[in-house]
Amino acid sequence: MSIKIAPSILSADFGAFADAVVELSEAKADYIHIDVMDGHFVPVITFGSQLVSAIRPVTSTPFDVHLMIENAERFIPDFVKAGSNMVTVHPESTVHLHRLVHQIKDLGARPSVALNPSTPITAIEWVLSDIDRVLVMTVNPGFGGQAFIPEMLQKIRSLAECRAANGLRFEIAVDGGVNADTAPLVARAGADVLIAGSAVFHHPEGVGAAMDELRKGAA
Ligand code: DX5
Ligand code: ZN
Repeated sequence: MSIKIAPSILSADFGAFADAVVELSEAKADYIHIDVMDGHFVPVITFGSQLVSAIRPVTSTPFDVHLMIENAERFIPDFVKAGSNMVTVHPESTVHLHRLVHQIKDLGARPSVALNPSTPITAIEWVLSDIDRVLVMTVNPGFGGQAFIPEMLQKIRSLAECRAANGLRFEIAVDGGVNADTAPLVARAGADVLIAGSAVFHHPEGVGAAMDELRKGAA
């Protein structure tokens, strides 16, 4: 199975999201990664479900919405209604992770759980059979353009081993500092999905060339 690419529009031009999404879809992105930040769980505020509604009509590429917010349970219905296909939540943001995962499922979207760099896999052990994806943060969430944390390669390997040992099916996504140099490392460690912001949007030859380079590096 070839690696999937999920470009993060956090690195796109904030004045032209719809154009960016069309361009990514035409360049065959597997998902569009949408980073939602609330200024509490992470220091920055980005955008809410209105943005998801606004860009939903311009593409059929699945939206993978990464919620870096507190009180996610209050906002999940709006994000799903707006057209999010997959919703990622952080265990560090809630004491009721199991409930959040099932809320996402019951609303008809695919649940995913993200791990901050300091959060161990055991924090999500009891929801692994309920979710479609584990997102391994390879930077501390909050900003694009940060350096990849190499210790996270072992976390990706452990997760892949745990999945195989238990006959589970979740995909492993990697988010933060993914570029042409780190893509081969995370792919070899067991990643199925590369989430990349600056490596895609700041590539001198455009988003299509950037995605080809990531795919080739990971092959
Ligand atoms: C960081 C976000 C990432 C971010 C990645 O909090 O979750 O999705 O957009 O950006 P790069 O690829 O530039 O590290
Ligand atoms: Zn993200």
